[in-house]
Amino acid sequence: MATILFTHIGQLVSVRPESFRLQGKQLAELPSLRDAYLVVEDGRIAEYGVMDGLTYQPRDFGEHVDARGRLVLPAWCDSHTHLVFAASREQEFVEKIRGSSYAEIAAKGGGILNSARRLADCSEETLFRDAWERLAEIARLGTGAVEIKSGYGLTVESELKMLRVIRRLREKSPLAIRATFLGAHAYPPEYLADHEGYIRLLVEELMPRIAAEGLADFVDVFCEQGFFSAEETLRICEAAWAWGLRPKLHVNQLSSQGGIEAGIRVNALSLDHLETLTPQEIGLLAAATAGATGAGPVATLLPSAAFFLRMPYQPARALLDAGCPVALASDYNPGSSPSGNMNFIVSLACIQLRMLPEEAINAATLNGAYAMGLGEELGSITPGKRANLILTRPVPSLAYLPYAFGTSLVERVLLGGQWM
Ligand code: NIG
Ligand code: FE
Repeated sequence: MATILFTHIGQLVSVRPESFRLQGKQLAELPSLRDAYLVVEDGRIAEYGVMDGLTYQPRDFGEHVDARGRLVLPAWCDSHTHLVFAASREQEFVEKIRGSSYAEIAAKGGGILNSARRLADCSEETLFRDAWERLAEIARLGTGAVEIKSGYGLTVESELKMLRVIRRLREKSPLAIRATFLGAHAYPPEYLADHEGYIRLLVEELMPRIAAEGLADFVDVFCEQGFFSAEETLRICEAAWAWGLRPKLHVNQLSSQGGIEAGIRVNALSLDHLETLTPQEIGLLAAATAGATGAGPVATLLPSAAFFLRMPYQPARALLDAGCPVALASDYNPGSSPSGNMNFIVSLACIQLRMLPEEAINAATLNGAYAMGLGEELGSITPGKRANLILTRPVPSLAYLPYAFGTSLVERVLLGGQWM
């Protein structure tokens, strides 16, 4: 594969000789170099430094990029999406404008169950093609790694169909992809009065097949009133661990009902959403992550779901001040966040969650990578890591990126040494 030399980089962002998950105050530090160079070799970061120390000649490289006035930063690592789906849900969007809530629409058979009905009728080929286009779009917007969940299947056949689509995406795409089994997204109507029966289907029928085919890296449960209780979440996660699936959970989106405690108990890699958090729960998260670097779950905030559903925003400041590892993700899905634009997520995090630009960028890159088990491979400018990079248009400063929300400042995206 070709070698690429970037020179005169206005600011090379998140240069880290060593990679580790960031927590609390560490997120405010975003080490960068001004007037820098960067060498990419065989799709990986080989070397970087300041221009004064450059000893190579551009002619020695397959490609030379003059990055004057521009930022080079790690591509976004979007650790929570549902981007395989059959149909959009703008009718529900209009119902919400007229006053219905997300929970009301769900209770009437809309929401996740609506998506599940549409997915059952959709061929694997169509699902793949549509998801492929969504991936291409987010790649152009700067995303280089993405976690994708099942959960619009809710039957053995449809859940496997979704996971096989994710596997095909993973085999073909230049993005790094991780797959999560979210069979416990909602109770299908025929199991509403038989939770036990559905949990048995997930645990006894689906998990062994998913493990046998190697279709998932993680397990997820929508732990929420009207969906899965904390006890049910515990049971599903304990069974999943036996198949090597580590939990990454939807908790505290609409209410507090024991998801945080359950997630900590099953050693979840991340606890996601967190629109509704009590001070006690923030204390539990902080205590769980206070030990060795990497211990306890990442708090993954999904601000666009709060934005889209007009919910209170996640208490990012309280989490950071308590010392928690915080990540940001898009939650790209047809019901609560029909966008996978991580540039907008970073802006929203700064504007509404009061995260500093440095904190938001760290949360959307390095900590996002750790929240999907890719922290040693992606998310920072570290020698040996995969060269998934954003090259911006000329910008006056780093803070300009979240500040100029809605303007596309991503000029080019390099994924594994290949331009998108
Ligand atoms: O993360 N909250 C649960 N799951 C998704 C939304 C699913 C849907 O409405 O289709 C979420 O917001
Ligand atoms: Fe989600």
